Amino acid sequence: MMASALPRNVMAATANFPDGFIWGVATSAGQTESREGRGRSNWDVFLDNKGSTADGTINQRNTEFQLRYVDEFKLLQNAGVNTYRFSFSWPRIQPETPGSPNMRAMSYYDRLVDSMLEHGLEPMPTLSHWETPLWAGDFLDRDITKRMGDFADIMARLVGDRAKRWLMFNEPNALAAFGYGNGAFAPGYRSREYLGAAIHHINLAQGHMHAAVKSNLPNVKISSAFNMQPVEAPSGKEEDVKAARFMDVLWNEAMPGPAYGKGYPDIIVPMVEPYIRDGDLETIAIMPDFFGANFYTRGFVANDPDSPLGTTMVAPPPDIELTLEFPYDPDSYTKVLLDIHKKYGGPEILATEFGFATKEEVPLQEFDEKMPKDLVINDPDRVRFMKGYITAALEAYKQGVNLSGMMYWSSTDNLEWTLGLANRFGLIHIDQTTQKRTPKKSLEYYASCIALNGPA
Ligand code: FCB
Repeated sequence: MMASALPRNVMAATANFPDGFIWGVATSAGQTESREGRGRSNWDVFLDNKGSTADGTINQRNTEFQLRYVDEFKLLQNAGVNTYRFSFSWPRIQPETPGSPNMRAMSYYDRLVDSMLEHGLEPMPTLSHWETPLWAGDFLDRDITKRMGDFADIMARLVGDRAKRWLMFNEPNALAAFGYGNGAFAPGYRSREYLGAAIHHINLAQGHMHAAVKSNLPNVKISSAFNMQPVEAPSGKEEDVKAARFMDVLWNEAMPGPAYGKGYPDIIVPMVEPYIRDGDLETIAIMPDFFGANFYTRGFVANDPDSPLGTTMVAPPPDIELTLEFPYDPDSYTKVLLDIHKKYGGPEILATEFGFATKEEVPLQEFDEKMPKDLVINDPDRVRFMKGYITAALEAYKQGVNLSGMMYWSSTDNLEWTLGLANRFGLIHIDQTTQKRTPKKSLEYYASCIALNGPA
């Protein structure tokens, strides 16, 4: 008995993730909560003005998360998920003005956090997942940075150390590049000058949020969820390669670099310099307690002098498989994790998002009461992609990366911003008419990874 038990234990220790690994799911308020009971947000204006998203749905109803979170938490608990990443809706907490928070919103988030804990889920809040209340302005205005600090202070006092890990921004780089550079996201600006202002003010807001959370809760671990995406030019032409290099630095270094005390990369300095005041770089150098990394894919671009970002996206090389939304790229995942490890001195890395939109095998119109109760929706592509990325992350861990967890995007199908509801990322299917939650095969697969503490 002893002889056979030993090798198995040794196998488990080397083949899989460490004990206490975070197996989480990630969501955000702007994609799941309905507009009910909150003030108007930057995304409300953006989507209302744009007329519609790709499939005609906007963020009016979303998944009615506020009413239905318990159904979801039960399914996650059954699967063994141990952490739930979600975001606070700032326009719910301070709907019309700065100052005192809305008490109904406070009691909702208070109950929500308790419910997570009751279902064995560690709450991991994101303070800002792209949504801001209209009254607070945008990141062209330096004043928003202090307002975000006040908001963080309110939330830190409310939640206290019921949450052990906090995130400040979700993808501050995507917010700056798409919201202010190419206009793809709210508030929809297209300007190199605005992009510079946004980069600096988002970084500064992060500094203020960090100070607010740490002064209330010195023992919690805090970071942001940076989207990490190596950028390259498939054409190999000189002007494309140069443009890709700029985009790569802008995307991957302009936000985490200053947060880790490295200041702005040289090619970003001219864009942000007009907005920097004395003391800003010190406020920004928060030295995160861990590196939050969202990873979906590598980026493929070409030079585009008409875009404030200097690039336009192009098709990936033909040998790369596509998911419904992003190229599937497990090798880059391993490389990105190793790269963060080297660049930032071997920090703890938490994979705050990985996920896939895929086709599912049961036609949507068949999801109704007539289906058997134990129906599990078949999504074999998602399972295959998940296995690839979890294996890629394990490979990085084996090569020395201090990876403490992975969080699948997303728990349920939800509003994929301007792409509407058609691109389903969930482990749990949502019927958009009845709002019924149904687990997919991929949730079952995630449960087996959790049980094994590695790729099943
Ligand atoms: C990430 C976002 C998240 C979701 C996924 C698919 O970039 O953080 O809100 O849209 O992509």
